[in-house]
Amino acid sequence: MGEIRKAVQFARTGHPSDVVDLVDMETPDVGPDEVLLDVEAAAINPSHLLTLSGNYGVQPDLPAVPGAEGIGIVRAVGADVHDLEPGTRVMIPPYSGTWRQQVVVKADAVAVRFPDEGDPVQFAMIMANPPTAWLLLKSVVDLEPGDWVIQNAANSAVGQYTMQLAKIYGLNTVNVVRRDGLEDFISNAGGDVCAVDGPDLGERVRKATDGAPIRLAIDAVAGDATQHLADCLADGGTIANYGLLSAEPCRLLPDDIIFREITLTGVWLTLWLRKYSTPEERAAVYGELAGYIAEGRMHANVEATYPLARIKDAVSHAMQGERSGKIIILPNAEG
Ligand SMILES: NC(=O)c1ccc[n+]([C@@H]2O[C@H](COP(=O)([O-])OP(=O)(O)OC[C@H]3O[C@@H](n4cnc5c(N)ncnc54)[C@H](OP(=O)(O)O)[C@@H]3O)[C@@H](O)[C@H]2O)c1
Repeated sequence: MGEIRKAVQFARTGHPSDVVDLVDMETPDVGPDEVLLDVEAAAINPSHLLTLSGNYGVQPDLPAVPGAEGIGIVRAVGADVHDLEPGTRVMIPPYSGTWRQQVVVKADAVAVRFPDEGDPVQFAMIMANPPTAWLLLKSVVDLEPGDWVIQNAANSAVGQYTMQLAKIYGLNTVNVVRRDGLEDFISNAGGDVCAVDGPDLGERVRKATDGAPIRLAIDAVAGDATQHLADCLADGGTIANYGLLSAEPCRLLPDDIIFREITLTGVWLTLWLRKYSTPEERAAVYGELAGYIAEGRMHANVEATYPLARIKDAVSHAMQGERSGKIIILPNAEG
C-alpha cells in the first residue's frame, strides 16, 4: 500500500478552473525499473489550459492528472535502478501528470538531471518552452548570425526564451506584443526591436530594422496577426505557426503565398519529442538548454506561485491576460 498524497485531477473537460479538483491519490509501489519523485515545481502553460478544455492536440484518457512538465527530487529508486540516487533533482519526463505531490516514472525516461544549485522554478519550465524556442530557431529556416527574425506574443515565456536564444546564436529579433508599455520588458529579455501588433506592422518594422530582410516569422497568435507577420517578411520567407492564442484561423493573402512565395508551416514540440528526434538528440538539446538556464542566460518571468491546495485560483490566474510572467504550482509547499 503506497502513501496517500494530494493530486489535481480532472474527470471531464470544460472551463479549466471548474474541472480541476484536489484529490487524495495513492502513490503506486515503485517497480524495479522505476523511480519515485517528489514534485518540486510545475508550470501552468496555455497547452494545459487547452487540455483541460478538451482542445489540445493530444488528450489523456480521463480521469487524469494534468501537467506535462515539472521538476522533481528522486525520493526512492527501484531495485534495478543504479544510475539515479535519492536526492537528485531531475526533469520529470514529458506528460507524466505533474500537478501532484508524488509521481512514479520509468527511470530510463529521466533524461535530464539538474545541479543542486540554481533556481528550481526556472528548471521546472525546461521541458516545453525552451526547446520550442530552440526548434523554432533551428528547424524551420537556416539562419546565420546577424540575420533577423520576427515573433509575436514576444512577452510570453516562449517569446522570452526565443529572444534569449536568438542572442546566444547571434540573431536579431523584432518582437511583436499586443499592448503598449513592454519596451523595457523586451529589451531586458534581449530583444532588439519591440513593436505593438497592428495592420501597419510591416511599415513600422521596415523603418525599425532599416529594411533588413527577415526570412523567419514566428507566430503564436494566428488570425490577422499571421498576415501582419507576412507583411514584415522578405519574399520567400517562412511563417512558423506554433500557437493558437487568438483561437482564429491563420489569415494569409494568396497574393503573398503565390507572388511572394511566403510559406506557412507548423511547429509542434510534441511531434519532435515523439517522432522526429532520437534520445541522443533530445539529451543534447536539453543538456544545452539546462546549461543556459543554470547560467541564468535563459529565464522566464514568474508572476506567482501557488500551493496545490489553491489549484483553482492558480488556474484562474493563469487564464488571465496581461500577466508579467508564469504561474507556477509548488505541489509540496505549505498551504
Ligand atoms: N507548438 C508547440 O510545440 C508549443 C510549445 C510550447 C508553447 N506553445 C504555445 O506558445 C504560446 C505561448 O506559450 P507560453 O507558455 O510561452 O505563454 P505564456 O507565457 O503563458 O504567455 C501567454 C502570452 O499570450 C499572449 N496572448 C494571450 N492571448 C492572446 C491573444 N488573443 N492575442 C495575442 N496574444 C495573446 C499574452 O499576451 P498578454 O501578456 O498581452 O496577455 C502572453 O504574451 C502558446 O500559444 C502555447 O500554446 C506551443
